[in-house]
Amino acid sequence: MTTALTVRNATKIFGAQVALDHVSIDVEPGEVRALVGQNGCGKSTLIKILAGFHAPESGTEVTVGGEKLALEDPVSSEAIGLRFVHQDLGLVPNLDAVDNMALGNGYLTNKSRSIRWRKERANAREALANLGYDIDISLPVGSLQMSERTAVAIARAMSGRGTPPKMLILDEPTANLPDAEAQRLYALVDRVAKTGVAVLFVSHHFDEVFEMAQSVTVLRDGKHIITREVEGLTEEQLIEHVVGRKLEEHNKRGAEAREHGPEVLKVNHVSGGSVADLNMEVHRGEVVGVAGITGSGREAVAALVFGGMARHGEVMVDERELPQNRPDISIERKVALVPAERHANASIMEQTLRENITIVDPGRHMTAGVLRRRPERADVKEWLGKLTVKPGETEYTMMQLSGGNQQKVILARWLRQEPSLLVLDEPTQGVDVGAKADIHRLVEEAAAQGAAVLVCSTDHEELVRVCDRVLIMRKGKVADTLRGEQITADSITAATIGRDTAEAS
Ligand SMILES: Nc1ncnc2c1ncn2[C@@H]1O[C@H](COP(=O)(O)OP(=O)(O)OP(=O)(O)O)[C@@H](O)[C@H]1O
Ligand SMILES: [Mg+2]
Repeated sequence: MTTALTVRNATKIFGAQVALDHVSIDVEPGEVRALVGQNGCGKSTLIKILAGFHAPESGTEVTVGGEKLALEDPVSSEAIGLRFVHQDLGLVPNLDAVDNMALGNGYLTNKSRSIRWRKERANAREALANLGYDIDISLPVGSLQMSERTAVAIARAMSGRGTPPKMLILDEPTANLPDAEAQRLYALVDRVAKTGVAVLFVSHHFDEVFEMAQSVTVLRDGKHIITREVEGLTEEQLIEHVVGRKLEEHNKRGAEAREHGPEVLKVNHVSGGSVADLNMEVHRGEVVGVAGITGSGREAVAALVFGGMARHGEVMVDERELPQNRPDISIERKVALVPAERHANASIMEQTLRENITIVDPGRHMTAGVLRRRPERADVKEWLGKLTVKPGETEYTMMQLSGGNQQKVILARWLRQEPSLLVLDEPTQGVDVGAKADIHRLVEEAAAQGAAVLVCSTDHEELVRVCDRVLIMRKGKVADTLRGEQITADSITAATIGRDTAEAS
């Protein structure tokens, strides 16, 4: 049988760094393969080589369906049958599904060059129906659920008008998907694979690997470690392959009753975006989680509290009102926000890690108007170390880091501020298992040192791990509150979809 994909000796060197080191893999038609490994191990680099975005070193060979792929040429990658869905999905939120699909594939026109709208709509509907989705294609995709948006992105990839697709490649498709919606994605991938198309997906969520994949490839430091069937593999073994050692057990936080200090954050009748009426408080030393499906309001809470999104109602920090749209005042009042979409909202890709970290307090290492470089570098270096940023070079630019490592730099920026209120939105999105544990420890440390912490997350294990209390959002309001022993991943999932397992708050 011809393989869907054969990669031989894929190698890529960036400057002094070997990002990918003679990696060889084979994927069969209809096979669903997970590609896993720590941040910076080379997953995206491999995918970008397949997409024709990076030029690999000589010796790299790729065949698709038995045919040799011309490297460094995105058009050839598409023409040979490779299709990609990148992490941000690449959709335009205020256009509808029909337009978004046409943006990828070109509009159908008739002889007089006018767009054949009826045909376009029918095609979009059919492509989505083939994936098991019946969504209103006239709505802007920004108003769809995350899983529906993912479906539009996959439908677009699958319905290109050139050669039929042989392989679908997804780079962290569920980084932002709540549990209930992730189930829909599993079904969707299953359908694609049943048509004989091979699927390669990158993920840091191991439950997803076990649910979706037949086989898994592990990379570490650019090298191929193992490829094997998922059946018979335990999560513990997989973690060991990924990090190269056993990971210590993580204890759930908050088994013992914790004394919390005075109220730091108080939210009174706040509305805006998908939030209808938000009321809550967070105390000094307390970690409060916010969970909810997309559209429940969860996705807007962080921005509303920080003041980065128009709101009605009142946000009090240390008994003083926090104005909206004044990030300068928020920073001055020691309020820190790590937003979910780091590319759009937080990182300056062309600047160094040092600049990205010190941007919030450029004066810290100034003496009489002169910037003392050495202490500044040492200070930044220490934080890069605390968050295991790799490479931990202060003068590298953000662009040179892998996705997960960029996330760690943004966290370093804010943890270094010793904030009195720390607002985290999907703090470990795209971060590997080892670094995730480090980040959770740092969040606990921040709380122990007196910060009030608000964590909005679709990662329920994460909420279990760090939170004293979890607020469940439904229909724009806090519908339930889970405390102490009640906080389990299953109870959070059940509560977000409205099953009654929690006390009403
Ligand atoms: N444009 C670039 N310039 C220089 N180095 C780069 C560039 N892109 C990636 N790298 C380096 O190559 C290595 C592999 O990065 P890659 O993005 O493939 O990691 P990844 O496995 O996708 O990680 P993550 O899980 O964090 O997304 C990293 O060490 C990264 O710093
Ligand atoms: Mg990546």
